[in-house]
Amino acid sequence: MAQTVERVRDAVRRHSARFERAIPLIASENLLSPYAKELLVSDLHSRYAEGLPGERYYEGNEQVDEVETLCLDLAKRLFRCSFADVRPISGTVANFAVLKALAEPGDLVGTCRLADGAHISSASFGAFGVRGVKPVYYAWDPERMTIDVPRTKEILREVRPKLCLFGLSLFLFPLPVQELSSTLEDVGARGWYDAAHVLGLIAGGEFQDPLHEGCVVLSASTHKTLPGPQHGILLGNTEDPELTKRLASAAFPGVTSNHHLHSMAALAVSLAEHLAFGRAYARQVIANAKALGAALHERSFDVLGEKLGFTASHALAVRVTTEGGGEEVARRLAAAGIIANKNLLPGDTSPKRPGGIRLGTPEVTRVGMTEKEMVRVAELMDDLLHRGKRPESVAADAATLKSGFTGLRYCFAAGEAAYRYYDLVGHPPP
Ligand SMILES: Cc1ncc(COP(=O)(O)O)c(C=O)c1O
Repeated sequence: MAQTVERVRDAVRRHSARFERAIPLIASENLLSPYAKELLVSDLHSRYAEGLPGERYYEGNEQVDEVETLCLDLAKRLFRCSFADVRPISGTVANFAVLKALAEPGDLVGTCRLADGAHISSASFGAFGVRGVKPVYYAWDPERMTIDVPRTKEILREVRPKLCLFGLSLFLFPLPVQELSSTLEDVGARGWYDAAHVLGLIAGGEFQDPLHEGCVVLSASTHKTLPGPQHGILLGNTEDPELTKRLASAAFPGVTSNHHLHSMAALAVSLAEHLAFGRAYARQVIANAKALGAALHERSFDVLGEKLGFTASHALAVRVTTEGGGEEVARRLAAAGIIANKNLLPGDTSPKRPGGIRLGTPEVTRVGMTEKEMVRVAELMDDLLHRGKRPESVAADAATLKSGFTGLRYCFAAGEAAYRYYDLVGHPPP
């Protein structure tokens, strides 16, 4: 068995070495800061703390209480809101908590279609299906890559859902929460925002501010544009004690038991770092995404959202039907050291044949890349997909580009020598 352990460790080392040489463009991924990563392997990983600070079911939780209280205060400060719960252990779990708190089986819940960018939480085979709620789909404007407000108002007035979810996995532009909020009020629906992808942009003040535009609750992952640990969060801006009570009891004991204290502590660090560096980071993430979109467009890629500057977020959608389709293009890019994912795009009819790829700039920005490097990334993609350059040769160019970015930015203790972010903690490759 010792050999098996070595095989696992070796596979992880090879994975890390691969990512160290690559250009990671997965829109939902990011890198943890040194202080946050340190806490992930702390003793908190071994402990339980069910309940809330001061009201635990176990002993030995005094310091955990201190950490969680800080984490909740930081979250409320960062998002200027009155309610936070950091017990959901992922974005999907946070979504389950909202559905448990605010909907009953059989209820109608507004959302976007998967092909328009919604997350699988809204699918019948995802959280919606598990809770037994029925989706009501908003109308979509494919040119502006957002919800079509006039047609959606009509749908909401006719169908009168109980809850309306605003959130996407392919999130290019802000959603019209404010524009729809009076209709939600008229039909008696509550607004719910899934900020898994754009949490760090919202916190940085560079996207939209759903909790101040009409949503009563926000659920999210904490590891995408917010460069924190893999975890989840619930935030609310309501004075209604009944609502916050329902959300809190949906988080625990509804959808979690122990809430992964090590990652909760890492989240506290990431929230504090985002208060210090989040605005600058969010700005550069978006500037990089816009620059990459423009550079790809100049090289004849079909980047969606052209009339609106391609994106107002961290993400881009590129239709690659002429280059071989989403699946083949994502695979060829990975072989050339550029990591992205195939993605359904509006108008795609088969979920098995996505017409596009999704690109994101959270990680490349975190290591310090700026607009200049985005142009180089577009050149590499052009070389591979339009000019017939061999994947090994593009991979070598990608590694050369990446070798200039060995430090992390936008966090404390970001020194280059002190921390190799792709290493196993304490066990650098030989
Ligand atoms: C919009 C949206 N919500 C929820 C999630 C799920 O997040 P997690 O992976 O933290 O469960 C994702 C994941 O990508 C997402 O895109």
